[in-house]
Amino acid sequence: MSEELHEVTLVVNGVPRSAAVPARRLLSDFLRHDLELTGTHVGCEHGVCGACTVLLEGRPIRSCLQFAVTVDGAEVTTVEGCTRPDGELGAVQQAFQDCHGLQCGFCTPGFVTTITAYLEENPAPTAQEAREAIAGNLCRCTGYQNIVASVLRAAQLRRGRPDEAAAS
Ligand code: FES
Ligand code: FES
Repeated sequence: MSEELHEVTLVVNGVPRSAAVPARRLLSDFLRHDLELTGTHVGCEHGVCGACTVLLEGRPIRSCLQFAVTVDGAEVTTVEGCTRPDGELGAVQQAFQDCHGLQCGFCTPGFVTTITAYLEENPAPTAQEAREAIAGNLCRCTGYQNIVASVLRAAQLRRGRPDEAAAS
């Protein structure tokens, strides 16, 4: 017997996207496989590493812990959506480039989404606050030093880009 499918529609990065999926399709798989948005990475698949973090109505969530059907109709932002309104690198993305905040890059999408949401709440963090902001995301490569620098650099960039701060 073939599995029953459910139509799920999300507004992803500002664009309505739909697919018919089984009830147990994870949001991470929905984004990656059904919508072909492969920027969201899947590491541990049980809520520990943070690589799969996306923004649900602006709040960071682990997309590997969420069924797509449970967020039908919601707004989701992935790393692909953390850009400037004109499509250029967003402040957080630019900061990672400026500060060498990545090596293999596997963890990076989760950091970019997490930090994007965090800076909305705290636009001028201290280094200690930046460290706390990323405490739920694991990186095996960088030692975190350059990621903390990226948070601070992103905050600085955002101050010079009021259009982006308003758009995110
Ligand atoms: S893949 Fe979701 S938290 Fe690790
Ligand atoms: S850059 Fe490789 S895991 Fe973070």
